[in-house]
Amino acid sequence: MTTSLMVLKRSLSASAAMSSAIKHVTVVGGGLMGSGIAQVAAQTGHEVTIVEVNDDAIKKAQKGIQTSLQRVAKKAYKDNSSEAEKFISTTLGRIKTSVDLQGAVKNTDLVIEAIVENLGAKHKLFSSIDSVAPQHTIFASNTSSLPIGDIASVTKRKDRFGGLHFFNPVPVMKLLEVVRTPETSDDTYNKMMDWGKALGKTTVTCKDTPGFIVNRLLVPYIAESIRMLERGDASPRDIDTAMKLGAGYPMGPFELADYVGLDTNKFILDGWYEKYPNEPLFKPIPLLNKLVSEGKLGVKSGEGFYKYNK
Ligand code: CAA
Ligand code: NAD
Repeated sequence: MTTSLMVLKRSLSASAAMSSAIKHVTVVGGGLMGSGIAQVAAQTGHEVTIVEVNDDAIKKAQKGIQTSLQRVAKKAYKDNSSEAEKFISTTLGRIKTSVDLQGAVKNTDLVIEAIVENLGAKHKLFSSIDSVAPQHTIFASNTSSLPIGDIASVTKRKDRFGGLHFFNPVPVMKLLEVVRTPETSDDTYNKMMDWGKALGKTTVTCKDTPGFIVNRLLVPYIAESIRMLERGDASPRDIDTAMKLGAGYPMGPFELADYVGLDTNKFILDGWYEKYPNEPLFKPIPLLNKLVSEGKLGVKSGEGFYKYNK
C-alpha cells in the first residue's frame, strides 16, 4: 500500500472522533463548502447535521456528498467493493439533515457556518442560535474573508467562537486554518485544533486578519490575473497554462476563480475594499462584477470565465 493511501485510510478511521471533545457537528449551509465539511466530519466518525434553507438545497447537498464519497471510496477501497459500499453507507448514515436551525443546534458540540459571504446574513444566523445552543457549544465560521471578531460580535460566547477555514474541495485539500480572535479562549482554540486533526487535516494557526494566510495571498493573485485579462495582456487559457506550467500551480487563476465561485471572489473583494479603500489590490474589477451580474458564477452555474457541462 502506498504511503498516501495509508494516510487516506488512517484519516477515514472513525476512531479519530473518539479522541476529540467534539462528537456532534452542525453544519449550516450545505453548498460547495458545507457539504464537503459535513462529509469529512462524517467520514471520520462524527455525527453531523446539515441545515439548509429548503428540501431542494438538502437534496443537492446529499447528491454532492454521495458523488464525492464514491470518489474517495474508489481510491481507498479500489480492490474491495463491499468495503467501499460499507464505507459509503456508514458515512451517509452519520449525516442527518434539517431546515430547522434552532432545533438542530439544541444538542451539538460545534456549529460551523458555511452560508453566503455576507456579514448581515451571518449575524442573523448566529444571533438566532446563541440562546438556544448549549453553553459548551463552540461556534465557528468558514468565512473566506470576514473578520471572525465581527461575526462573533452579535453573540454572548465570544470566548467560544473561532474561525475554521477549509479549502475547496474539502475532501481533498489537506489544510485547515484555525483562526483565533483576541477573545477566543485557550480551551476553544485547543478543541478546534484537536478537531481539525481528528478530521485528518493539517492545521495552521491564524490571527484574525483579512484573508488569514491563504486568501490574503490567493485572492489578490486571482484579482491581478483578471486585471491582466481586462488590459488585454493575455487570454485566460494562456494565463492559466502559464501559471500551471511555469509556476507549478495545479489550476490556473481563471480555472481556480471559476472553481471557487465568481460570486464568492466578488464578495471577498467588495468586503475588503469597503474596509481598506486605499489598497489597490482590493479595488473592484468591472469584468468580475459584470460576469456575476449576468449570473456567470463559474463551475456551479455552468459558466464563468469558461463554460462547463452542468
Ligand atoms: N471529492 C472527492 N475527491 C475528489 C474531489 C471531490 N470533490 N475532487 C477531486 N477529487 C479527487 C479525485 O477523485 C482524484 O483522485 P485520484 O487521485 O485517486 O484520481 C484527485 O482528487 C484528483 O482529482 P482530478 O483527477 O479530478 O483532478 P486534478 O488532478 O486536476 O485535481 C484538484 C483536482 C484537487 C481540485 C486540483 O486541481 C487542485 O488542487 N486545485 C487547486 C484547488 C485549490 O487551490 N483550492 C483552494 C481554493 S481557495 C479556497 O478554498 C479558500 C477560499 O476561501 C476561497
Ligand atoms: P455556496 O453558495 O456553494 O453555498 C452556500 C449555501 O448556504 C447554499 O446552499 C445556501 O442555500 C445555504 N444557505 C444560505 N443561507 C442559509 C441559511 N440562513 N441557513 C442555512 N443555509 C443557508 O457557498 P460556498 O462556496 O459553500 O461558501 C460558503 C462559505 O464558505 C462562504 O462564507 C465562503 O466565503 C466560504 N468559503 C468558500 C470557499 C470556496 O472555494 N467557495 C472556500 C472556503 C470558504
